[in-house]
Amino acid sequence: MRSTRAVQSGLEGYFRDPLFIRMPEHRILLPETRDRSLLYDALVPQVRELLRDEPDPVAAMANMAAALRETFGWHWIGFYRVLGDELVLGPFQGPVACGRIPFGKGVCGKAWAENRILTVDDVDQFPGHIACSALSRSEIVVPIHGRSGSVAAVLDIDSSALADFSEVDAHHLQQLSALIAPLLG
Ligand code: SME
Repeated sequence: MRSTRAVQSGLEGYFRDPLFIRMPEHRILLPETRDRSLLYDALVPQVRELLRDEPDPVAAMANMAAALRETFGWHWIGFYRVLGDELVLGPFQGPVACGRIPFGKGVCGKAWAENRILTVDDVDQFPGHIACSALSRSEIVVPIHGRSGSVAAVLDIDSSALADFSEVDAHHLQQLSALIAPLLG
């Protein structure tokens, strides 16, 4: 039986092995500010670089959701993909959420049906809002067009603050969504 010391030294050897392949470290570097425009200005090029060699849409959506979460700390950030006549939950950050949303239903289904960004200042005032979490107070949904030109997914973000999203968010989230678009059919 190996002693603890032997196990420890074995691991040390493993990590010192020059053939051990280290993954490049990916960190989102942000200015110390609460100014959203400045945060997006720092974030967008880093996400572009992070996704540069990633052809898989799930991997790209997962890292984009994580980068947005790291930057803004919103309650829920995620993607729904268009599969047939529903939106189906994709990569996300935050609490568990509803898995499927019919065409035209909720904020997500309406943004898909109307093919436009929807910003909701108070979700309680939005008829048909689908409440996945009682903590969500405002929401923005950005449709993402795939290579075919039709809506292939939506980026959905929920905030626990009322009226948390503005034109600044809509503009930059559209920029970020455009990085995912070429990966979708
Ligand atoms: N509130 C959304 C449903 C998705 S969750 O917010 C994650 C809607 O009304 O479409």
